Amino acid sequence: MLTAEEIVGVKSSFDMVFANATDMTTAFYDRIFELAPEFRPMFPGDMSILKQDFISKLSVLVGSLDQATGLLSGADLLGRNHLRYGVKPEHYPVVGEALLWSLARGLGPHWTDELEQAWRKVYAIIAQRMMGAGASPPQSSIPDASRRM
Ligand code: HEM
Repeated sequence: MLTAEEIVGVKSSFDMVFANATDMTTAFYDRIFELAPEFRPMFPGDMSILKQDFISKLSVLVGSLDQATGLLSGADLLGRNHLRYGVKPEHYPVVGEALLWSLARGLGPHWTDELEQAWRKVYAIIAQRMMGAGASPPQSSIPDASRRM
């Protein structure tokens, strides 16, 4: 688990990149597609809404880091959604690397080894939980009916 210090570091570094959210999310998805061009077809052609969804979801997850229940239930739902998008456990490491890369890029001199360690833990906690939830989707989980059309 994360120490109280790590949580503070992650939250304040997130606030810094959030100030340039469009820049950060553009770099993040560009990096994913650079590392794994084969992921591109899973994503929509126009990425603008997803970029906003991603950063606001990450904001909620980071905001609930010190409340394990909120964090984990948010990640459960997200994990079940991702199963429907065709996301597999082996996709998670690439996205994690792209996230760390875009955070490092956005934070510049504020990015430290300690912060990297803390963010690695955060991503691992969220990804583990998402993958676990994705492995056993409940029948009733259809969060966005429009996606089935
Ligand atoms: C910390 C990890 C992640 C977070 C916070 C996250 C967040 C999100 C959010 C908020 C959405 C919008 C839809 C929704 O809320 O369900 C989304 C969609 C999506 N994500 Fe993720 N994601 C993560 C990891 C991944 C990974 C590992 C992949 C694998 C390539 C991935 C691929 C996708 C795809 C394909 C969509 C659907 C796009 C669409 O059709 O609109 N995500 N993600």
